[in-house]
Amino acid sequence: MRAAYASAPNPDDPLAGLVVGERPDPVAPDGWTTVAVKAASLNHHDLWTLRGVGIRAEQFPMIIGCDAAGIDTSTGDEVVVHSVIASDAWDGDETLDPKRSLLSEIHQGTFAEQVIVPKRNVLPKPVELSWAEAACLSTAWLTAYRMLFVKSGLRPGQTMLVQGASGGVATAAIMLGRAAGYRVWATARTEAKQAAALDLGAHQAFPSGARLPERVDVVIETVGQATWSHSVKALKPGGRIVTSGATTGPGPAAELNRIFFLQLSVVGSTMGTKPELAQLIAFLRDSGLRPHIDRTLPLESVRDGLAAMAAGDLIGKIVVEV
Ligand SMILES: NC(=O)c1ccc[n+]([C@@H]2O[C@H](COP(=O)([O-])OP(=O)(O)OC[C@H]3O[C@@H](n4cnc5c(N)ncnc54)[C@H](OP(=O)(O)O)[C@@H]3O)[C@@H](O)[C@H]2O)c1
Repeated sequence: MRAAYASAPNPDDPLAGLVVGERPDPVAPDGWTTVAVKAASLNHHDLWTLRGVGIRAEQFPMIIGCDAAGIDTSTGDEVVVHSVIASDAWDGDETLDPKRSLLSEIHQGTFAEQVIVPKRNVLPKPVELSWAEAACLSTAWLTAYRMLFVKSGLRPGQTMLVQGASGGVATAAIMLGRAAGYRVWATARTEAKQAAALDLGAHQAFPSGARLPERVDVVIETVGQATWSHSVKALKPGGRIVTSGATTGPGPAAELNRIFFLQLSVVGSTMGTKPELAQLIAFLRDSGLRPHIDRTLPLESVRDGLAAMAAGDLIGKIVVEV
């Protein structure tokens, strides 16, 4: 089958190891099913995989791609794939399983004509969502959903700040936060991206690092080192940073004095559970909210999308159609 895969890790030039070519058709073991992929979206995770971050060297070659929508070939159903693969015996919150992985870390990923997943990892795709929209949900949108609605403690009327407004998780957080009734502020590195944040629903947008009109209740962090200090300083006493990523590096000065003196909380968040993904899908189906898709590309052109992501040249999600 056709697939986009990382042939070998390359920390400095992630696209050097990318191949779009033939890979063996997968064979689903007992309890697993084969999904014929219709669409899959790009995540920063794909660049980490190509760099060799979060994956062991012996796992290469690895088909990249964390999330997908397609046809479950064992039932004929239209499905969304939940990317968090828990161990067989695990019961409960899959994100807390010490042995859990995302597709493309141990098991082959979704940028392919077919992907195999445990049968419990597929959910019905509502007809109201296009293939491309459904393909955006399992990673970036699910992560934003859990950050906002499980981890942040935000209540309608409170203020949240989204750092790095143009990213997949960040655009999802802006749109979900606005739909939920929060006051949404965002930062971005360019005026065009600040304008895009306003178009997506942010009430105000600021240059990265700008002094804010007042302090906020919650910061939604995926940028890491480049914005961390600003995130800590942006919080009201008792405020909370919810962090799920460190695109610019994981080594920020912790600002411990400010954290204890102002009684701030730093809360980690990763992906989301299958029930949370089902709730997200239902929210989109019933609210009419839809992921902002920057562009769709054929699988053969996935390199162009990954290059745009590496350069920060995107607003929202890039989708590959298979
Ligand atoms: N823990 C989890 O479960 C989980 C799930 C999803 C994602 N993540 C992580 O979250 C991060 C974002 O993922 P994504 O897929 O949303 O990535 P993405 O679409 O590539 O977005 C990258 C973001 O980084 C910002 N950025 C990059 N360099 C910057 C800099 N020097 N200064 C300020 N902002 C900068 C961009 O903001 P601008 O708008 O300013 O350009 C953009 O919002 C990644 O590190 C990813 O691995 C983690």
